[in-house]
Amino acid sequence: MQATQPLVGKETAFITGGASGIGRATVLRLAEDGFRVVVIDRNALQVEALVAELVQAGYDAVGHAVDVCDRSKISALIDAEARVDVMVCAAGIGPSCAFDAISDEDFRAVLEVNVLGVFIASQEAVRRMKPGGRVVTVSSRAALGGGGFAHYVASKAAVVGLTRAMAMDLRQRRIAVNSIAPGFTDTGMTRAMTPAQHAAASALEPAGRPAEPHEIANAIAFLASPRTSFITGQTIFVDGGKSL
Ligand code: NAI
Repeated sequence: MQATQPLVGKETAFITGGASGIGRATVLRLAEDGFRVVVIDRNALQVEALVAELVQAGYDAVGHAVDVCDRSKISALIDAEARVDVMVCAAGIGPSCAFDAISDEDFRAVLEVNVLGVFIASQEAVRRMKPGGRVVTVSSRAALGGGGFAHYVASKAAVVGLTRAMAMDLRQRRIAVNSIAPGFTDTGMTRAMTPAQHAAASALEPAGRPAEPHEIANAIAFLASPRTSFITGQTIFVDGGKSL
């Protein structure tokens, strides 16, 4: 006897920020898991290269070079698909800046991509999702605090709150909404640091190294699976124990 219902047809997973880092590793993992993957990212060259690589390897993948805050384009690309089973919101920006130097413009830009972008992608997805659908947001250990990027910390705390609120509003429709909160992870975002800063940050991690993107993607894939759809409103810290 099976503990879970077998999948009916191939499920479709959308991944924002799917062209790089954690999003890219998630695209690869979900493609391996048998999803049709729809890559959404504003970096057109990287989207094209990743989709070509996936199709070449025999996976079912398409991509769109779109800004996650462009509601009409996000709406249209979801409409173009026959179904939406999973939305992973990984697009994000993480500039460092001393608190005194953060401008209103910087603050708005971070909140716009990291919070409004999650809101738009999630809302457009759940409007079309059937019961059993899953949304996975990517917050951060920084939701608990951190120095040198107050706008980012505020945005990621907001993602945790938004995740819980969406989970509550959608629970009776049986749509699960959860968040993965990565710790320091080796991606383009953290490679923007100087090598000395990167080494110093790595040394502060319990494992003495950053997470690899696939280590975060594995946790995202767990929450994207139909087998875990009874978990909702949760934020799972994937940080090697740093937040303990
Ligand atoms: P990354 O820079 O490698 O990837 C981010 C991707 O998002 C890029 O491909 C970029 O083009 C895309 N993107 C940015 N703004 C966009 C927009 N407006 N519309 C569409 N695409 C956009 O960075 P990484 O590290 O893979 O970040 C993924 C998520 O993980 C982000 O939400 C980030 O805040 C979060 N995170 C990262 C951590 C780290 O240490 N790298 C730690 C905790 C959370």
